[in-house]
Amino acid sequence: MSDPRASAGPRMPANEGMPAQREKACRVIVIANQKGGVGKTTTAINLGTALAAVGEEVLLVDLDPQGNASTGLGIPVAERGVSTYDVLTEAVPLARAIVPTAIPKLSVVPSTVDLSGAELEIAALPRRSYRLRDALDGFLAEDRRREKAERRGLTYVLIDCPPSLNLLTINAMAAGDAVLVPLQCEFFALEGLSQLLRTVELVRGTLNPALEIQGVVLTMFDKRNKLSDLVAADVRAFLGEKVYRTVIPRNVRVSEAPSYGKPALLYDHRCAGSEAYIRLASEMIQRERAVRAA
Ligand SMILES: Nc1ncnc2c1ncn2[C@@H]1O[C@H](COP(=O)(O)OP(=O)(O)OP(=O)(O)O)[C@@H](O)[C@H]1O
Ligand SMILES: [Mg+2]
Repeated sequence: MSDPRASAGPRMPANEGMPAQREKACRVIVIANQKGGVGKTTTAINLGTALAAVGEEVLLVDLDPQGNASTGLGIPVAERGVSTYDVLTEAVPLARAIVPTAIPKLSVVPSTVDLSGAELEIAALPRRSYRLRDALDGFLAEDRRREKAERRGLTYVLIDCPPSLNLLTINAMAAGDAVLVPLQCEFFALEGLSQLLRTVELVRGTLNPALEIQGVVLTMFDKRNKLSDLVAADVRAFLGEKVYRTVIPRNVRVSEAPSYGKPALLYDHRCAGSEAYIRLASEMIQRERAVRAA
């Protein structure tokens, strides 16, 4: 069998110092799938919005040079002063990169195209796989030291990954507590999933022993298409309880919303897609409650 590290993009450094355990008050969820266009960003934006709507304090970290999450949350390119690029390459404190969105309790660390060159730059820097983790942990620790009234008190950080298992995604996985995998209900859905799971396994073995698969969410489900049902059944047979009961339907309102710089939940909170993301958020909170209580 070939060495799985060969397919995981960058080589995993063995000795960067394992991260300290994190407090459970804030959960860092990595939204990843190396397949393009499966609904990662749509899930990050709308799950983030739905979590914020029920009172969670959410930060979305845009780790994709495409910057779709930043755009979809209405942050114009011209207003992306400090970005994930600066945080990763220059170690600019995360606090300086956080910008509010139109949704109360949801803020974002935007990304710019600069990030496409970051991989090469951070590969040469110390703790290259922990650049994001160090930034995040620094921020969380500093926040805990603040007076209660001034504290941001994040309860969820969602990281929107690029469609690749590159060093950016590795940084996200090294920084995360758990991975949420959006899976599009199409023929090749399972292809690539095993590679993603292998990468998670690898990160767990080298960089972040606490990392787990939080769940898999089926996206763009088309109930008129028999294939959607078949794929959903296959995925459930393969991954069992890890697959969320909530399925995100293919819904035109969901795809229109980003061009208005709004989450679907603001654009049309009663469309089937928005309602599904509200259900997904509540399922996630239930799952996470169990983890936090453990
Ligand atoms: N539930 C849905 N119904 C209809 N269209 C959707 C839905 N979810 C996502 N889309 C559309 O599918 C496209 C891909 O979605 P999205 O950008 O969220 O995927 P992604 O995995 O983040 O892509 P990339 O890999 O390029 O980052 C977008 O045009 C988006 O608007
Ligand atoms: Mg995306």
